[in-house]
Amino acid sequence: MSDAIFPVPAQWAANALVDSTGYEAKYRRSIADPDGFWREEAQRIDWIEDFDTVRDTSFDRDDFRIRWFEGGKLNIAANCLDRHLAARGDDVAIIWEPDDPADAGRKITYRQLHDDVCKFANALKAHGVAKGDRVTLYLPMVPEAAIAMLACARIGAVHSVVFAGFSPDALAGRIKDCQSRIVITADQGLRGGKTIPLKANVDAALEKLSAQEVAVDTVIMLRRTGADVPMVAGRDVDWADAVSGQGADCLPEIMDAEDPLFILYTSGSTGQPKGVLHTTGGYAVWTAMTHHYVFDYRPGQVYWCAADVGWVTGHSYVVYAPLMNGATTVMFEGVPNFPDFSRFWQVIDKYQVEIFYAAPTALRSLMREGDKYVTRTSRRSLRLLGTVGEPINPEAWQWYHRVVGEMRCPIVDTWWQTETGGAMITPLPGATALKPGSATLPMFGVQPALVDNDGVELEGPAEGALIIKDSWPGQMRTVYGDHDRFFQTYFTTFPGVYFTGDGCRRDQDGYYWITGRIDDVINVSGHRMGTAEVESALVSHPQVAEAAVVGMPHDVKGQGIYAYVTPMEGIEAGEELRAELVKWVRKEIGPIATPDIVQFAPGLPKTRSGKIMRRILRKIAENDTTNLGDISTLADPGVVDDLLAGRPGPK
Ligand code: WT7
Repeated sequence: MSDAIFPVPAQWAANALVDSTGYEAKYRRSIADPDGFWREEAQRIDWIEDFDTVRDTSFDRDDFRIRWFEGGKLNIAANCLDRHLAARGDDVAIIWEPDDPADAGRKITYRQLHDDVCKFANALKAHGVAKGDRVTLYLPMVPEAAIAMLACARIGAVHSVVFAGFSPDALAGRIKDCQSRIVITADQGLRGGKTIPLKANVDAALEKLSAQEVAVDTVIMLRRTGADVPMVAGRDVDWADAVSGQGADCLPEIMDAEDPLFILYTSGSTGQPKGVLHTTGGYAVWTAMTHHYVFDYRPGQVYWCAADVGWVTGHSYVVYAPLMNGATTVMFEGVPNFPDFSRFWQVIDKYQVEIFYAAPTALRSLMREGDKYVTRTSRRSLRLLGTVGEPINPEAWQWYHRVVGEMRCPIVDTWWQTETGGAMITPLPGATALKPGSATLPMFGVQPALVDNDGVELEGPAEGALIIKDSWPGQMRTVYGDHDRFFQTYFTTFPGVYFTGDGCRRDQDGYYWITGRIDDVINVSGHRMGTAEVESALVSHPQVAEAAVVGMPHDVKGQGIYAYVTPMEGIEAGEELRAELVKWVRKEIGPIATPDIVQFAPGLPKTRSGKIMRRILRKIAENDTTNLGDISTLADPGVVDDLLAGRPGPK
């Protein structure tokens, strides 16, 4: 932990949207008078019809409901586009930076974006997509990803964006779960000079799905690289053909505040990924508001969130919130280390980016290459930096602050989740003194608390499980198709409150320090992975009898994946099988799930009732083997010695 404190720079304090007195007053009001507070904040959105009630929420079992702005009618795509046309139709909405800096980028004005969205919305309608239908998007980081999302929102279809790094299997599971009969994709993706066979992956995914499981009748394919890809007659349509002849006007569907906006699959501690469902009105108010305050966003500023649209950060802070706020949002197709380690900073100079928001893992990977890649660029345009997705270690924070931001840019370390829609615990740049590694203080309307294992709330400086005591507008509303699972997952560990799955410490100043997941979820390079998913991929291999997966500390990724595998009787546990299993998991889930270490284990540490004692596995993975705790309840304490002896690498 670091004790350093960085006060709000004088420049910022003087000109900020919210200063420290302002923060305190606004926060207090948001809790004391939530109805008044949110009624006012909701005015940042164009409502077609005003809402009747601000909120109607309860986390109690008998009375469970989460409803915001009921009676209100709106269209979020119209809030992102139409409302800007009169005043800033010619302003740039999206700056697109392609993978290869030598290729031409694109600047798309609000007016052009409006027209493109309308045309694609009309194309979707022409292919039979109607309000409430689910549409799967499997696209690279190109403007068409935003166009497709907004087109869905415009006609009231529910998009489910699947990260383009996921495997055909993972894609198939998500298409099936939400029963989408249409998939939008590209011929290939392009990242770091390498192509990703997106259309081939879609073909493979659809081949796995029988007609009884789901009937996908339409695949719209964008030509990104121009590769020669097979098209299935009657099913596959070229994006260009789909939009040709479509009009540039499309009346936005009038949506209820609680109508679904999108589904986004995310990993949990058990079972298959769940479809996190967000609705329209609350999500719009919440993301537009948090983007405005957290980034102190003013019209005209160039803003860059370096997240992929396949994750919630891309949904909320690349597409929806910046566009609702009339921002110029940068979409970057590439990776931080291509063509070299200066890429981020070159793009910042190229477009005079003022606000930059990225994941700690990317910063750590650049930090270890040395300062020269940063210092040979100007970065004078930068005024604010942000991080998201995982805890940032104070060393990386200091580097970001000193080398990238040259001590003049505050860093907003924003804690939130797919489930929360937008930033929950975060500094405001003009209001909050910063402590490297702390996400600092709650956003307006958010009531975090720490509880012990029995759910007893802890006061003052303390460490415990992080819960949120009351609803906020951007909260997820359900797990798609499984409302019981929603309640079970988030509201039963500690009845009456929302359980985040994170551990957290609060210091003497009331600052929150997220310590990481305390459930069976690991965070690899800011991407969430359920250990159960990796285990299920491993045991689906014919030569694997059993597997247990835990996280391990990793210098760049934050956490790595450590897999304990018991091969089937008679199978040789050697390098060949190890390599084969790593390949297998990449194929089953995708490269983000690549195990860092596979340790073969003749047996796993189980209690007499057969439950795997993960605590022991985590300790061994962390190479903290001196204090394994009580192992007397193990059915066979001898397995621990085998595990210790079988640990690869330095003992
Ligand atoms: C989990 C949520 C937030 C959108 C991207 C990730 C971890 C997220 C921080 C942060 C420490 C963080 C938590 C959380 N996390 N931001 N600033 N400091 N930890 O969304 O995939 O739903 O993952 O990411 O563990 O629960 P996600």
